[in-house]
Amino acid sequence: DWVMRDHIAEAVEAIRAQVGSEEVILGLSGGVDSSVAAALIHRAIGDQLTCVFVDHGLLRLNEGDMVMDMFAGKLHAKVIRVDASELFLRELAGVSDPEQKRKIIGRLFVDVFKAEAEKLKASGQGHRGATFLAQGTIYPDVIESGGAKSKKAVTIKSHHNVGGLPEQLGLKLLEPLRDLFKDEVRELGVALGLPHDMVYRHPFPGPGLGVRILGEVKKEYADLLRRADAIFIEELRAAVDPASGKSWYDLTSQAFTVFLPVKSVGVMGDGRTYDYVVALRAVQTSDFMTADWAELPYSLLKRVSGRIINEVRGINRVTYDVSSKPPATIEWE
Ligand code: XMP
Repeated sequence: DWVMRDHIAEAVEAIRAQVGSEEVILGLSGGVDSSVAAALIHRAIGDQLTCVFVDHGLLRLNEGDMVMDMFAGKLHAKVIRVDASELFLRELAGVSDPEQKRKIIGRLFVDVFKAEAEKLKASGQGHRGATFLAQGTIYPDVIESGGAKSKKAVTIKSHHNVGGLPEQLGLKLLEPLRDLFKDEVRELGVALGLPHDMVYRHPFPGPGLGVRILGEVKKEYADLLRRADAIFIEELRAAVDPASGKSWYDLTSQAFTVFLPVKSVGVMGDGRTYDYVVALRAVQTSDFMTADWAELPYSLLKRVSGRIINEVRGINRVTYDVSSKPPATIEWE
């Protein structure tokens, strides 16, 4: 579409004018905003952009490989993948408080990113290191942090955004999505050639599976959760609602699996099992401030539950969360 093509051309010119011959780094998370920002900036300045993808080990199944395939493989962007999963797991060991987990994950993320930015500078591979930090900040983020909204008296959940990072790194900010709403960011992503499924993905919290494993985070739990969640999402994408012609993935705003570190008794073959429980969560919402649990078809829930219990050894019970927000929140932590 012409409007979008004009917009891309304009944005590309603006980025080139702002950056000149300098270097840019960007933290790629796999989320929609940072992905679209990366694709746009790469279109504008190619190899002057280096993406740093910090894998905290709390991503979804195959997510890290998918990000690399897309950006390094298809777009030929410079991407440094940092596998920091052992560091994150080590620092999270023994910690079960949700806010403390968020703080640890946020802090480590900044540390790892900073270390990578400094390494890049020191390596001097044909450049003097980055002078710009690019972020996928979108218009709603700008309003939220600009104090336009009244400060809440109580912090329900401290969303870790990488605030203050540009100052700490002594970098200038490049935020090419600052004027766009979410749906415009998505259209832009599609126009830039990013796959539809990536651009229309449900939101995923920065702390990732760290807040979807209740209590202490362990690798064993994360591995079980990844496999169960992949089945849930695969079935949501495959199930089409006849009335609307849309998949249940597209009919829900956010859907995911939560790992409960609780064991319950089951029976399989002639044996007794004593394994973990997961909860499926699917909500419909327009603003994520309030949300209704989604009335998924029983046939779909049945298929998901059957597959998880049969395919993921270690989980023998699946529940469905029928709580709305408020008073429940969307995430369990
Ligand atoms: P809640 O659970 O508060 O979630 O109803 C509302 C929306 O915010 C997301 N969420 C987070 N996103 N860091 C993030 O980047 C976080 O710590 C965090 N906690 C919740 C949640 O996934 C939902 O979309």
